[in-house]
Amino acid sequence: MAHQITAMNMLKSLAGGLLLVAVGCSAPEVAPSKKSQLAADMKRATDHHSFSKPEEAVTTHLKWDAKVDFDQRQITATATYQVQTAKDAERLLLDCRDLTIHSVTVDGQDAPFELGPVRPFLGQPLSIPVTGTTKEVSVAYTTSPDAAAFLWVEGESPFLFTQSQAILARTWVPCQDSPGVRFTYEAHVEVPTELMALMSAVNPTEKSADGHYDFVMEQPIPSYLLALAVGDVEFRSVGAHTGVYATSDLIDASEYEFAEMEDMLVAAEELYGKYAWERYDLLVLPAAFPFGGMENPRLTFATPTIIAGDRSLVSLVAHELAHSWSGNLVTNATWDDFWLNEGFTVYFEQRIMEAVYGRDISEMLSTLSYQGLVDEVDAIMDVNPNDTHLRLHLKDRDPDDGMTAIAYDKGYFFLRLLEETVGRETFDNFLKTYFTSHAFQVMDTDTFLDYLDDNLLNTEELRSAVNVPAWVDGQGLPSNCPEVKSARIERVDATLNAWIQGTTASDALPWSDWLYQERYRFLSNLPDNTEAARLAELDAAWDINSTGNNEVLFAWLEQAVRSQHTPAYDRLRTFLVGVGRRKFLTPIYKALVETGQADLARDIYKEARPLYHSVATGTMDELLGVEG
Ligand code: BES
Ligand code: ZN
Repeated sequence: MAHQITAMNMLKSLAGGLLLVAVGCSAPEVAPSKKSQLAADMKRATDHHSFSKPEEAVTTHLKWDAKVDFDQRQITATATYQVQTAKDAERLLLDCRDLTIHSVTVDGQDAPFELGPVRPFLGQPLSIPVTGTTKEVSVAYTTSPDAAAFLWVEGESPFLFTQSQAILARTWVPCQDSPGVRFTYEAHVEVPTELMALMSAVNPTEKSADGHYDFVMEQPIPSYLLALAVGDVEFRSVGAHTGVYATSDLIDASEYEFAEMEDMLVAAEELYGKYAWERYDLLVLPAAFPFGGMENPRLTFATPTIIAGDRSLVSLVAHELAHSWSGNLVTNATWDDFWLNEGFTVYFEQRIMEAVYGRDISEMLSTLSYQGLVDEVDAIMDVNPNDTHLRLHLKDRDPDDGMTAIAYDKGYFFLRLLEETVGRETFDNFLKTYFTSHAFQVMDTDTFLDYLDDNLLNTEELRSAVNVPAWVDGQGLPSNCPEVKSARIERVDATLNAWIQGTTASDALPWSDWLYQERYRFLSNLPDNTEAARLAELDAAWDINSTGNNEVLFAWLEQAVRSQHTPAYDRLRTFLVGVGRRKFLTPIYKALVETGQADLARDIYKEARPLYHSVATGTMDELLGVEG
């Protein structure tokens, strides 16, 4: 497999080289049909979130040589790129943010460089003089202790991890930080000897004696998939191509929790084709990780909050694994096309869950997804209705603004509508061919819609049944949105109603028969104005503060805040101070603010803020009106 991919890359870069030569040729030398073919290949969607101009000079391979300094909280490194330049190229543009550039060489010779003005979110362009024959550019630099991608954990078990998506790679590597630019990489990283270094690449399974590690990523990836983690972790194999990394306190629990990863990988391959990355391992990060998971190739980064002890939260693994196709293999061209990454991934995630755990489970998940979507559509319609389009318009905005249920769940329901319109078999063939024929390429919304028209919605009847424009460039949730039905969730809803009416007592509720999805549904649908005394009844019956399931705990704590059920507030504080996952933090802090408890929110936040990642503090600072 690796061999095939390398050969393919070589072919591609060869084609790229020819292409660049061709650009400089006088027109008559290229046959018209060929020429337009070449021009089409050259076409790149404009990425408003990168200063780079890959059509002039593009990076194809990175050699990264780095030393990680925990005391100074910085990395000193050299990034050496192989580049391909157009014949009349004058400069290579790299994205940088908060980097100190020491020196630059071009084909081994010292070269001048220029840093442009700093822009919000984007940082600044680093401009390096090149010509049509330049082969190699090297940048020596140091990162800032406040680099937004990093989270440094101090104490007994020091840890560093990066989060590059969407545009934070530029805070630790000067790069063409656009999802439309792919490159292979190799790295040499030096870390303190008691720690292991891991990357989105071929990884070690044991610590080295001297703290030096070498990495190779042979498949070309976009910069947002660059990842590094450094910590005192161990490795356990859980299958032929799968394994987990975690600190010693979590390694046994992780091995149990993620034991079914290989089954998921097999199911995924059966659905949409061969896994392109050879191994699929998962790294359990410190609880400060701002996301649930991040699909770094070969090594998913995951929050420890999905370790529930009963494998009930593994759909997150299915999601990150699915990105190995939707996102990592076929990549959104710009952040406006984010739904092509996430909507496809939620759809694929559900299919993996259905294949491994059955339709009952996946339909419960879809029901929760539907409810989350309806709630978020309502909320966004009040603020910025155009943000409910699948195709986003994030120019001059933080691409982080696109991380809503629209890309994920509206995207999912759009694909589900396609499946239900053409039938599962036809749709599966379509998707499989889509992934295979666009492997290691970028995809923008228009190109996808053309592909869809040509290959799936090829009759007027199908087109009008789906109504693509209403989904992609229209507001809200179109009326042909598929319906989900889960008998188990319907029973929970009936039970909740009975409890609200007072016809079922708290200790008569079938809590112990309920799966996490059912418990979550019950707690997250309690009316906002539920009295504290009624929560006390539930608490007495179920002792929810001590649940090991963080989704259930989250739903409970949010309601405890809304009902001012103060006996839960000690747990509330330990949760907010111990966990940095933004999906949990935002609704809880928001509930505190909305219910007149902003002082308590700010008091807890004061204690918690130093432990959170910049992605989380960015959102919480704004929400709580705290100066960054
Ligand atoms: N790629 C995303 C995380 C992401 C998106 C980071 C945009 C930065 C910018 C990842 O695959 C993801 O979607 N994670 C979800 C979990 C998933 C099960 C919905 C999360 O972290 O909540
Ligand atoms: Zn995702």
